[in-house]
Amino acid sequence: MGSALPLGSLPAAELFYWLGVATLTWLSLKAACRLLSGARVFVLGAGVEVGRFGRWAVVTGATDGIGKAYAKELAKHGMSIVLISRSQEKLDQVAKEIKQFQVETKTITVDFGEGAEIYKIIEAGLAGLEIGVLVNNVGISYNYPEYFLDVPDLDNLINKMLNINIMSVCKMTRMILPAMVERSKGIILNVSSASALYPVPLLTLYSATKTFVDFFSQALQAEYKSKGIIVQSVLPFFVATKLSKIRKPTLDKPSPETYVKAALNTVGLQTQTNGYLPHAILGWITTSLLPVSLVIKQSMKMNQGLRARHLKKLKEKGD
Ligand SMILES: NC(=O)c1ccc[n+]([C@@H]2O[C@H](COP(=O)([O-])OP(=O)(O)OC[C@H]3O[C@@H](n4cnc5c(N)ncnc54)[C@H](OP(=O)(O)O)[C@@H]3O)[C@@H](O)[C@H]2O)c1
Repeated sequence: MGSALPLGSLPAAELFYWLGVATLTWLSLKAACRLLSGARVFVLGAGVEVGRFGRWAVVTGATDGIGKAYAKELAKHGMSIVLISRSQEKLDQVAKEIKQFQVETKTITVDFGEGAEIYKIIEAGLAGLEIGVLVNNVGISYNYPEYFLDVPDLDNLINKMLNINIMSVCKMTRMILPAMVERSKGIILNVSSASALYPVPLLTLYSATKTFVDFFSQALQAEYKSKGIIVQSVLPFFVATKLSKIRKPTLDKPSPETYVKAALNTVGLQTQTNGYLPHAILGWITTSLLPVSLVIKQSMKMNQGLRARHLKKLKEKGD
């Protein structure tokens, strides 16, 4: 009877009932869409064939962790690889490991923490190469979670982190994108972080630099999609690397090899990706199910715990 009445004359209880039904339906539909799109990417999906985009792939921060895993995985797809990091010895070692895939390698030794001069060295090293894939992977974080003003050697870290996490992404893209646009094909993979999904206290500067990478990537994709360019923002949660200080991989903290194999499969399917199914589920929970204030509060708590543990260890060592 009540439903035949105009909205203004519905009893309050009935109005709330239908509002509840509408909200639940909307949330269920949203969840179902997310689930279906996740299944399409992580269960059924196969990304684009990266080798079709050009002969060479360039990877920054290529001697360890996620960068090294990208270099190896791209070589498995038949791409020749330019490896860029600070240590010639480590670069030679990784180049040797990659040669087993019967591809060419090239190494460039630079420190991304330094100023703009290094980009002339990189440009000279890349001259004449047909670059199909650029992986802007190099990145640093804090040694341990800390309040902004108490971060050791703060002024130096601000310069280094902005140069490595932000400047490198802009400059490498500036250098390599024009030739990709000319050939109407190219892939740029920018390794951001799940800490760009919401503000992470006690990793404030890191979290903010990674948000830059994420926004830069998404906007760039909108600008250059019609020119045949794929730009992807990759936002991992924890991966077992030197940076995360996690030694033993687990399901939710995978090895870099496991992570990158999954992430490469999402290229061309997702502009912004957590790259790996368990991380995509974590991403969904933290961005869609929980209020951002709660996520920030929990991150703060977790990082306060990690900070306390680190400082206690330092004290025990007598530092
Ligand atoms: N691991 C995680 O849990 C995680 C989570 C989210 C996002 N990420 C992001 O993933 C990316 C890779 O992290 P990762 O965990 O693989 O790090 P990693 O294991 O510490 O490896 C970093 C790589 O970058 C190189 N590198 C470091 N500083 C450099 C500099 N100043 N100049 C040139 N090369 C430099 C290192 O080589 P050399 O020391 O030989 O130079 C190494 O090859 C970063 O952007 C990070 O923010 C990581």
